[in-house]
Amino acid sequence: MAATPRDLTAEELTAAVLASFAGAASPRVRVVAESLVRHLHAFVHEVGLTEDEWAAGIDGLTRAGQMSTGGRQEVVLLSDVLGVSMAVVGVNHAAGGGATESTVLGPFFVEGAPVVENGADLGAGAPGRPCLIRGSVRTTSGAPVAAAAVDVWQADEAGLYDVQYAGLDAPRGRGRLHSDGEGRFWFWSVLPVAYPIPTDGPAGDVLRAGGRAPMRPAHVHFRVEADGFETLVTHVFVAGDPHLDADAVFGVKSSLIAEFTSHEPGTAPDGRWMDVAYHSMQYDLVLAPRAAAAHR
Ligand SMILES: [Fe+2]
Repeated sequence: MAATPRDLTAEELTAAVLASFAGAASPRVRVVAESLVRHLHAFVHEVGLTEDEWAAGIDGLTRAGQMSTGGRQEVVLLSDVLGVSMAVVGVNHAAGGGATESTVLGPFFVEGAPVVENGADLGAGAPGRPCLIRGSVRTTSGAPVAAAAVDVWQADEAGLYDVQYAGLDAPRGRGRLHSDGEGRFWFWSVLPVAYPIPTDGPAGDVLRAGGRAPMRPAHVHFRVEADGFETLVTHVFVAGDPHLDADAVFGVKSSLIAEFTSHEPGTAPDGRWMDVAYHSMQYDLVLAPRAAAAHR
């Protein structure tokens, strides 16, 4: 790096910081770092950031990092409530081409969920009305994709994910399935309900400061991985949910809303006898072919 100049004006300061990245080995690092610096400096000047506000921002970021764990990703939540997560989805997963649309990963994804067989009950005792979820993994031309890894995770009737329960010693409402030879997958769980995102951290502070509601419309999360295809991260939302047009993380897309149909007791579509009322939902997940690598 070149010598750092002294006695800088505001403009010279920004220019000096930009110049400090001129020696970056990666052109992409240089582009990203320079743009970040330009926007951060412009932000500070635009709002006339006070030292108290700067300190509050630092404190919020610090607390967000400190409270983040495998099951509680507060930094992800901050990104979500600020709309950054959906902006990144928009840049990387343009709509069109016939593939299922993407939405936010959210803060409750856990890598390494237990592998389960099709037909398994992921609810595993979670409170809620039984719900059979069926789907298939397909290409944009409609061909089935076999052996796709389908991660699913969802909240229960209390609006909570397994990782939000203290002392729960096994995953619940969460698992990894594989599509069969015809691209199909199916599992039992519970009917998801709308829930408030956690508000006990900096993301909650942002919501309160903005006079914003913390609710997310009911949904089931999916992440689908298959050789030769872009990984799909999405949700399926419950049709009729009153929060569909007020999602705290801006993640709803009309194409991702599906009917969760109510059934009386009887034989379920997968052949299982149900002696209580239940719901079912069917949704096909369409994968985009893997794009040529960019920026790497
Ligand atoms: Fe969620």
